[in-house]
Amino acid sequence: MSRIVFICLAAILTDALTWAQVNVEPNTALLNEGDRTELLCRYGRSINYCRIEIPGEQKVLNLSPEWSKTPGFTYFGAGLTAGQCGVSIERVKASNNGQVKCSLGVEGEELSGTIDLVVALRPQQPIIELLSRPNREGYFNEGTEFRARCSVRDGRPPANISWYIDNMPANKRTTPLEVMSSTNDNVELSTSVQEIQWHLSPEDSNRKLVCRSHHQTDRESVPPQEAAYIINVRYAPVHQPDAAVYGLYLEHTAIVNITIRASPQPKIEWTIDGAIVGQGRTDGRYSAYEPQYLGNDEYNVTLAIAGLTLEDTTKIYNLRASNELGLTDYQVRISSSSKPPSSSLDVAAIVGIVVAVAVLVLVVLLIVFARATGRWCFGGKSIKTPTNETKTNNSSMLNLY
Ligand SMILES: *[C@@H]1O[C@H](CO)[C@@H](O)[C@H](O)[C@H]1NC(C)=O
Ligand SMILES: *[C@@H]1O[C@H](CO)[C@@H](O)[C@H](O)[C@H]1NC(C)=O
Ligand SMILES: *[C@@H]1O[C@H](CO)[C@@H](O)[C@H](O)[C@H]1NC(C)=O
Repeated sequence: MSRIVFICLAAILTDALTWAQVNVEPNTALLNEGDRTELLCRYGRSINYCRIEIPGEQKVLNLSPEWSKTPGFTYFGAGLTAGQCGVSIERVKASNNGQVKCSLGVEGEELSGTIDLVVALRPQQPIIELLSRPNREGYFNEGTEFRARCSVRDGRPPANISWYIDNMPANKRTTPLEVMSSTNDNVELSTSVQEIQWHLSPEDSNRKLVCRSHHQTDRESVPPQEAAYIINVRYAPVHQPDAAVYGLYLEHTAIVNITIRASPQPKIEWTIDGAIVGQGRTDGRYSAYEPQYLGNDEYNVTLAIAGLTLEDTTKIYNLRASNELGLTDYQVRISSSSKPPSSSLDVAAIVGIVVAVAVLVLVVLLIVFARATGRWCFGGKSIKTPTNETKTNNSSMLNLY
């Protein structure tokens, strides 16, 4: 019972509301300074007058199609009798930001509507602040948590923020975008803030972290603004699978080299069959060169072996690289063959093996079929006149089955 009453009441209420309602178009107008715009309030019946208040304008506009008293603001709509009360603004000013109010005179009453007018203001250049501190030389150690905050100040509406690492979306943990609004001299502005954090790995070294602000005022000619920070990471020499050097010539000087990543520069030491050859040293036929910087934290580490012997190719060459962050061991094998053994099993070889197996299976099937049905040589009668040799073969095969 009470439910029916409620439904009836709700129906009456909504009816009354739509009756007395002023429709606005648009609800929110998002514009740049200097833009032209048209705002419209509508009522279902003829209206007597149309008054519009715009933030930042001294006068209340009293508008009709017949007169235009304030330059830059003219009546917009299909006429008062059509129930339309609108304004056409020639050039929107920053001070016009806020709520536009329209008042419609209707049968001894006044109805009103509001439209949010947002006049965009370009925010300041983004700023990246480090929340975790690098060392005095500007380096972070691997494994430490990197935290940074990007702020885009004084925009309207608030700017969005996105993060990139070396021009790829960063895909790291970020805090939700925080927007703080403030009003200064009646000008409402917003500052957007977001933080990013992750644990640094050697791969992050020398990467460029970018905070990009996205704003209403961005244009092709006025691209999104950004801030950037180059991350420097210090890390122990990076592990890698065992290396192999091929195509060495016996009796010649062999160059055994491996490329390793480390920051700062590593010290190296080779161990061959228990013999230790330090960096820049020569021991017998072995010479360990100084690591040679290749760029991007990579070093070419080389061991030269004078008069390579066959026995040398059976040894394992152990390299130990170390810096302040730790040490890492590497193994290098060498060979005088020109190609790695695994690559000899290439596509052609695999196809060959597959074909060979298929042929073998076919032959076996044929023999089984022939034996089962007593065909060909298995039937004793041969179409061909067999030679003595094949005869013996056939008989031995027959004996087998
Ligand atoms: C900012 O993000 C919001 C929500 O994702 C989106 O609606 C708006 O269009 C964005 N603004 C800009 C200028 O990219
Ligand atoms: C050794 O140096 C050669 C020539 O520069 C290079 O092609 C090769 O990749 C290096 N080997 C290793 C294991 O880094
Ligand atoms: C590494 O150094 C050796 C010896 O100097 C050289 O032969 C080799 O080409 C270098 N490799 C690279 C990748 O620079």
